[in-house]
Amino acid sequence: MSLSSDAAKDTANRARSDAPDLPQRLPQHVAVIMDGNGRWATERGLPRVAGHQAGVQTVREIVRASLDAGVPVLTLYAFSQENWKRPKDEVGVLMDLLDHFIVRELDDLERQGVRLRTIGRTEALPPRTLEKIRDAEKRTSTNAKLTLVIALNYGARTEILDAVRQLMRRAAADPGSAERALDEAVFSEHLYTKGLPDPDLLIRTSGEMRLSNFLLWQMSYTEIYITRKYWPDFTREDYFEALREYATRERRFGDVSA
Ligand code: FPP
Repeated sequence: MSLSSDAAKDTANRARSDAPDLPQRLPQHVAVIMDGNGRWATERGLPRVAGHQAGVQTVREIVRASLDAGVPVLTLYAFSQENWKRPKDEVGVLMDLLDHFIVRELDDLERQGVRLRTIGRTEALPPRTLEKIRDAEKRTSTNAKLTLVIALNYGARTEILDAVRQLMRRAAADPGSAERALDEAVFSEHLYTKGLPDPDLLIRTSGEMRLSNFLLWQMSYTEIYITRKYWPDFTREDYFEALREYATRERRFGDVSA
């Protein structure tokens, strides 16, 4: 065995020992709706933004847990298109937290083999935030251990419409292309998530049972896991519990039991 494959094996073994008792069948893509930050703060007599600040610590913990478990893609819903309706101060704090997260974590993410990607209409974000995001995406673009996808100014209906617009432009330039070559796989390649597998597992914290305009096309057959815990209280052990629960699900994709 070569030195490099020894090193790879060591890394894999270390990862497993940091994440004990995990099943063989892991989701290849976990999507998370990080809900309950506001309630977590309000219940403690704190301003809502304190919940978002506490939520960043959970983000760090769940990124680490994904690396340790060997989950290859993690998508976090950080800011929806609808979130612009929130008070201006709260929106400002969310953008600042994102900025700081990228600045503070980039070296670690790079070193840990994390590739950062964003989905959503990021061009509408404040220019200084956008600049940091583009730089982080570039710097981590060759990493392959974990793809961390952050959904920002994201809305699934807009994503679908953006794909339709692209396809309409294609059809205008090449009449007949829709009949010749438009199927689910081609459509998926026009979504923001191009190249990523569909989520196998969706985790939503705080007990709410909604999709909230998140990855509507991609989650047609995603397994859903809801916990009542608020996002700032969600731990790596809770995450591993969701992975264990996922392994017990029988996925039939419309077929009958084997
Ligand atoms: C939903 O909770 C949470 C959000 C809209 C923001 C999530 C953002 C973070 C955790 C921090 C920044 C992210 C990264 C990736 C660094 P809510 O405020 O709607 O909670 P509520 O329903 O209790 O009011």
